[in-house]
Amino acid sequence: MAGERGTFEDVRVAVHVCGGIAAVKVPGLVTELRREGAEVRVALTEAAAAFVSPLSLQALSGHPVRRHLPDPQDGGQGAGMAHLDLADWADIHLVVPATAGTLAKMAAGLADDVVSSTLLATAEPILVAPAMETKMWAHPATRSNCQVLLGRGVHFVGPAVGRLASGKQGEGRMAEPQEILAAAGVLLQARLSLSSSRVLVTSGGTREPIDPVRFLGNHSSGRMGLALAEGAAQRGATVSLVTTAALSPSRAGIEVVRVETAQEMLDAVLARLPRADLVLMAAAVADYRVASPSPVKLHRSDAPYLTLELAPTADILGEILAQRSPDCRVVGFAAETEDVRGRGLAKLIDKGCDMLVANPVAGDHSAMGGERAEAVALLADGRSVEIPWASKDQVASRILDLAEELLGVAPGATDPE
Ligand code: CTP
Repeated sequence: MAGERGTFEDVRVAVHVCGGIAAVKVPGLVTELRREGAEVRVALTEAAAAFVSPLSLQALSGHPVRRHLPDPQDGGQGAGMAHLDLADWADIHLVVPATAGTLAKMAAGLADDVVSSTLLATAEPILVAPAMETKMWAHPATRSNCQVLLGRGVHFVGPAVGRLASGKQGEGRMAEPQEILAAAGVLLQARLSLSSSRVLVTSGGTREPIDPVRFLGNHSSGRMGLALAEGAAQRGATVSLVTTAALSPSRAGIEVVRVETAQEMLDAVLARLPRADLVLMAAAVADYRVASPSPVKLHRSDAPYLTLELAPTADILGEILAQRSPDCRVVGFAAETEDVRGRGLAKLIDKGCDMLVANPVAGDHSAMGGERAEAVALLADGRSVEIPWASKDQVASRILDLAEELLGVAPGATDPE
């Protein structure tokens, strides 16, 4: 929990290097970040590679550096979508040094290299450490670009007054790596809004056995619950993920409990409920199970029909709501093919949870099984919040913002001041 974890432990830091002499300090910064427990990936502009060796940065970060956008000639196949991967992967982006050119690109929303494209594609905090000659820093164009970026929530560290590349003294010297680290640490601390919370997440579709090789199941992939678990861990929570899915979190420190049936999920959830501050019940739980699963494989017979007798499963959400401690907040989910809001509202009231997230699972914007979702979050206080069609990571982030309100903790702050 908060006091036990280093600020950079398990934090994913994208370091974007631009072309300036201060780039020679980046290897030291990367080394320091890794010493503090961060995972680091590096992206370079073309100009940066003239100042600092990509191979050194690869060795120090432990991963290949990103230097190019996917080549349109190979249909993006060869290089993949490296900038988008990095945009989503990182918890924080550091731009070191940030040249006047890159600040201008960021302000204008240009995306013509891997650094500017990644920075345009991310919703995570960006910390820039400008470095340039004093006249460039003081130029009205740079001033106005910085104002635009500040207004968008980009954070700045430095520049300091000191000796510049030209040999002159003046404002424009990049902040020292230790200052950059400290500024990044402050931003990350502000984002660890769930550091004193224990979060219990369920995900995936339950599998109710028919016989030893067959089951009743559904199309749930478990991705929404995984995104919630990873998002909560990113905000500093202690997370348990009770899941039927084979997907594994890419973030360390999440307890993963694999289950198959509704009964197993109920047992795993109830065992962890006494310590939970927040339960996110994203699993698609079967409402019925086969009353008496066959102990041996069923074989085709000449009978015209095979009849399975079904019995109701445990209502896990109902049990959670009945047994939770008064401070525990509970979020239910509903996957609906029609009248999403109406059915969601009925379930919110009927079940008595603090928030119910209703997803459409029909038509073009189905949340079931895919990488993206849309939802309406219905709160017990009468509010409703539309969450537009987006990646499940982004939808999870909005749900966690609302859950933080329920818990009474400050939402993950990314704005300056
Ligand atoms: N749920 C649960 N236990 C069950 C069934 C559902 O905990 N046996 C939870 C789901 O994880 C979800 C919420 O209840 O958070 C709503 O699930 P849903 O299947 O939409 O609701 P039902 O009450 O089963 O309604 P329906 O008749 O639409 O299936």
